[in-house]
Amino acid sequence: MRGVVALSILSALGASAALTESNLEKHADVLALSHSFNPVKDAYWTGYPHHRRTPFAVSPDGKSAYVAYLDASETDVHVQQVDASTFKATGTSVTVSGGKEAGGLVAHNDGFALLTNEAMPSGTTNAPSDETPVPVLYRYTDGEQTWKTWLGGPGVHESDGLAASPDLNGDLVYSEQSGLYGAYFVITDYSGDAAGHFGDSIEYVADNGTLVTIAGASSAWGCSHNTGIAFEAADEPPYASICAEDQGAIWLNTKTQGMMTDGVKLSNENTTNGAGGEAIGGMSGSYSALARFAESSRYLFAWVSRGAIDLTENSWMGDGYTNAQNRTNNRNVAIALLSDKYTKVGAEASSEVGAEDGDSQITWLTNGSNDCSNAHAATFGNSSALVTWEEISDPICDFIAMGCRGSFAGTFYQQVDAQGKAVGSPLKSTDTYVAGDMVTMADGRICWPYVQMDWDLSQPVYALGASNTTSMSFACLSLDGSSGTSVSSSSASVSSAVASSAPTTSVKTKAPAVKTPAVETPSVATTHAEAVSAEATSVEATSVEATSAAPVVQSTSVEAFPVEMTPSPMPPMPDFPFDGEGCAA
Ligand SMILES: *[C@@H]1O[C@H](CO)[C@@H](O)[C@H](O)[C@H]1NC(C)=O
Ligand SMILES: *[C@@H]1O[C@H](CO)[C@@H](O)[C@H](O)[C@H]1NC(C)=O
Ligand SMILES: *[C@@H]1O[C@H](CO)[C@@H](O)[C@H](O)[C@H]1NC(C)=O
Ligand SMILES: *[C@@H]1O[C@H](CO)[C@@H](O)[C@H](O)[C@H]1NC(C)=O
Ligand SMILES: *[C@@H]1O[C@H](CO)[C@@H](O)[C@H](O)[C@H]1NC(C)=O
Ligand SMILES: *[C@@H]1O[C@H](CO)[C@@H](O)[C@H](O)[C@H]1NC(C)=O
Repeated sequence: MRGVVALSILSALGASAALTESNLEKHADVLALSHSFNPVKDAYWTGYPHHRRTPFAVSPDGKSAYVAYLDASETDVHVQQVDASTFKATGTSVTVSGGKEAGGLVAHNDGFALLTNEAMPSGTTNAPSDETPVPVLYRYTDGEQTWKTWLGGPGVHESDGLAASPDLNGDLVYSEQSGLYGAYFVITDYSGDAAGHFGDSIEYVADNGTLVTIAGASSAWGCSHNTGIAFEAADEPPYASICAEDQGAIWLNTKTQGMMTDGVKLSNENTTNGAGGEAIGGMSGSYSALARFAESSRYLFAWVSRGAIDLTENSWMGDGYTNAQNRTNNRNVAIALLSDKYTKVGAEASSEVGAEDGDSQITWLTNGSNDCSNAHAATFGNSSALVTWEEISDPICDFIAMGCRGSFAGTFYQQVDAQGKAVGSPLKSTDTYVAGDMVTMADGRICWPYVQMDWDLSQPVYALGASNTTSMSFACLSLDGSSGTSVSSSSASVSSAVASSAPTTSVKTKAPAVKTPAVETPSVATTHAEAVSAEATSVEATSVEATSAAPVVQSTSVEAFPVEMTPSPMPPMPDFPFDGEGCAA
């Protein structure tokens, strides 16, 4: 997520020193929330704690900042405007009734747009059953709803099958240049041949609220079991997109919108049906993973990976697709530089069956034995970026290709230059976290929201117990180490909201050309116990092969989760000593 940047100031900074405590500015408990918020979300399958995302965005003129959060009751999304320098509330919050997830936020000079999911009004023809939430985009101007546009449900890519989103786990972006919102999110189809299966969708909406179908950019069905999305605006569609699928790879799929082999394979990952190591954050984590360097064409992507060895053919997917064993038990932080939205700098990941080395293309930021998670990236401008992650020491990774538990060892902030090289060693913080979008502010700082709390990553959420809060904190990192620098935002190169390139509003004819996996699972786990029973009852023996516009259902039977995937009750946790070691230390 990128706000406005004063480029001249930033390039003058050109900082080459490592980040230190003086670069980190904390605004603890600065925002009083009008409603209660539960800051912890249990992850898919494991039930381990994740930060519940609180989307944050700043307007092009740098003056209006907004933070969105899900009500503690898990229905209704509240959007609070905050002062862009003090982060205190300005005005009363707007409640988007019925919203089930704060799924993405864009700030405008006169309001905001929110991506959420909600049940359709009862009696809606062809709505999904059981009030399953459907993705929806809201636009508010001066505190009032201007329009509301469904991004799934009846009438949306009907010939490809109707889609709902029990769990969005995606992102919303906007380009001033094109005047188009882009939303990339997880779906499950409830009609058509992919009914009951999980995939993802990319939808574009014009400034006036019209859903536009753009050939080569919109997508009714893309990556299988997407367990992580990275999405960032470009000057025109298609916007830059990355998916972490559950068949063995992470794809830069700006060109394909799916997981076809003519996309760019950024990484081989050890996967299992429904998961890929939470490489792009897993539940509630699909934000600020792909960041554009100011107005340049370049992007930086950050994720976590166990590495990849011993590539074998993925016979289910066929030619060009591989499975990998993980090189390590823990996950380390990886970055990739893109020279433009379609192109990775350097080699892509190997697809050579039999290759022992499947991760030599990766630029690692860490290489220790701590487990790293919650990786995010943002840029300070054209020449410098920030990558952050959390670590746990002595990780126990109970489940294949999922997250781990252990003793929280800190949040790390690493400066990275325009060539993707680490600048100095990372700054470690034990009382700040990243729990919402990292935004480049008008004065060049990168700021984000979090909740001030004890962050315990040693046990599943059900064992920890949850607590609600009415207080939010913000933290910022600046390169010059002095907060409160006031830079006029008028120097920033923000183009007008007038669309400079008219979107093509033709119907996309390209067929989704990949198979989806055979075993489908719900991606929402509210409690550990619920997750287990839901998984156990949702294994199917059918698979979808979507090689033409009309996906064909096969009856191939495929194994369910391997035995070792079955979660068992957690044993009592040992009291891990805090060793203060970072992966990169
Ligand atoms: C958090 O708030 C919700 C909604 O009011 C409530 O159901 C839940 O019990 C609260 N949790 C705790 C730990 O107080
Ligand atoms: C809304 O915008 C779209 C795309 O620019 C355009 O095709 C359509 O005519 C507009 N609708 C109205 C009512 O202005
Ligand atoms: C993932 O790695 C595990 C070992 O940790 C291995 O048993 C499994 O076969 C791998 N998955 C795939 C799809 O190759
Ligand atoms: C990896 O570890 C080695 C040995 O400790 C160290 O020299 C190197 O700088 C580390 N690399 C990264 C990316 O942390
Ligand atoms: C940003 O950096 C790139 C490559 O380093 C350079 O080509 C480009 O001119 C720069 N853009 C601006 C606006 O400074
Ligand atoms: C691979 O990762 C799994 C967890 O996903 C772990 O149990 C296993 O030990 C790892 N394998 C190696 C070789 O580290």
